[in-house]
Amino acid sequence: MKNLDSENFEKIIKRYQSNPFMYVEYPHKRYWNKNLKNEIDLKNYFIESLKKHNDKKYLLYVHIPHCHTQCLYCTCHVEITKDYSRVKRFLNYLYKELDLLDEIFKETGLKPNFTDVHLGGGSPTYPKKEDFDILIEKLSKFVDLSKLNEFSIEIDPRRVKEEKIEYYHSKGINRISLGVQEFDTEVQKLINRVQPDKLIDRILTPKIRELFKHGINFDIICGLPGQNLNNFEKTVKKIIDFNPDRICLNYMHLSTKFHPHQLRMPKDKIPGEKLRKELFTLATEMLEKNNYARAGYDHFVSKDDKLYDELKSNKLKWNRLGIVTGNYENIIGTGVSSVGKIEGDFYYQNTFENDEYEKMLSKNLLPISNFHVMSKDDQIREEIIQSLRTYFLLDVKAIEKKFSINFFDQFKNTIEKLRIYEKENMLKIQEDQIEVINSGTQFANLMASEFDTYIPR
Ligand SMILES: C[S@@+](CC[C@H](N)C(=O)[O-])C[C@H]1O[C@@H](n2cnc3c(N)ncnc32)[C@H](O)[C@@H]1O
Ligand code: SF4
Repeated sequence: MKNLDSENFEKIIKRYQSNPFMYVEYPHKRYWNKNLKNEIDLKNYFIESLKKHNDKKYLLYVHIPHCHTQCLYCTCHVEITKDYSRVKRFLNYLYKELDLLDEIFKETGLKPNFTDVHLGGGSPTYPKKEDFDILIEKLSKFVDLSKLNEFSIEIDPRRVKEEKIEYYHSKGINRISLGVQEFDTEVQKLINRVQPDKLIDRILTPKIRELFKHGINFDIICGLPGQNLNNFEKTVKKIIDFNPDRICLNYMHLSTKFHPHQLRMPKDKIPGEKLRKELFTLATEMLEKNNYARAGYDHFVSKDDKLYDELKSNKLKWNRLGIVTGNYENIIGTGVSSVGKIEGDFYYQNTFENDEYEKMLSKNLLPISNFHVMSKDDQIREEIIQSLRTYFLLDVKAIEKKFSINFFDQFKNTIEKLRIYEKENMLKIQEDQIEVINSGTQFANLMASEFDTYIPR
């Protein structure tokens, strides 16, 4: 990487470490305003926002939090259990939530156009087929599953075999996202997730590859304990050999306060910021030499994937599920902790607590515990931040036109702050565009954060 030793660069790394925001939403959830009085107002606002955006395309996200064991790095909202009755109990409330949505749509005459469905978690592969069948039946009440653009599911390779994946395909699922994380056995031991390569082999059979043509995603994590440039090079080689269509290369997010199990990873083996960046750079270089293109901050797409065309025509969007096609703008989240977004109007998140989730649904209330009503200023900044983070490029003229503003007048102070990155040759500020360049792409979210007015400075 360029300029790694300069004084400024060291400062930038320090600031980066103290600002972990990934900007899957803007403003960050920590600053959501909860600007409505009570559950009734909230439900009405939800309905009004849907009405306003009835012509838009929607993604339905379903969160199933259960997992059999705890991976030590994991920061997802999970419930670790081997007791299937816990899963079943949760599913019964999830069905209730889907029924409630169906009721709202029918009562109001709303017919949101769901183009995509994503089943995530936790492990959405945990439910048995008979329970999964009910989930599909509930979804079918208001989603035409036969017409979806993408119907995807996260797969834990340790828990499913080829036959279950065929079953998912028979239900209309056309994209599988495999939690690979890392191929090195020593690293796997340190993260409590031993997962021999043959598990991936047994899933990605010729038949599955045929059924999910252009529909295979790998989740990989960079910054895990025990990773170094040698073993990570081998891991990336294996990834390339398996040839998935998309790769999500996450930096390990460390948040021991909320996820104390992370403290069980040996601290001295966790790569520091410099090594993390080097690991990421190594992977980027190897993938780019092997028919992959970087699509936003931490995603890579095969040049044979349709996302690559969308990347070239700037249609990609970023959300907490990662890079997505430009086909939908809005998200309705279901299940504990899931996040929803109605563009320009509203962010919301369901409660994390099972008890509260059950209580609210028993009263026929949406199980939302946190939300943000967007102002116009939020909308402008959200668009700028997303653009810098996803495309490494901000089209100044487009922003000015869309929001009727004079960009350089409005953001005079922020532009001054961005000059430090320009000096480091990480950013190019021009009259009609701002471009993240060179090693700046590794710090795009930090540069984007200069537009964040919620962070106390
Ligand atoms: C719900 S899991 C995927 C499905 C399944 N539970 C599994 O692990 O195979 C979602 C993904 O989030 C990523 N993830 C979880 N915790 C993370 C962390 N602390 N930092 C970065 N990525 C993380 C992992 O790559 C994981 O595959
Ligand atoms: S990485 Fe997946 S399997 Fe592991 S704890 Fe997190 S959600 Fe569960």
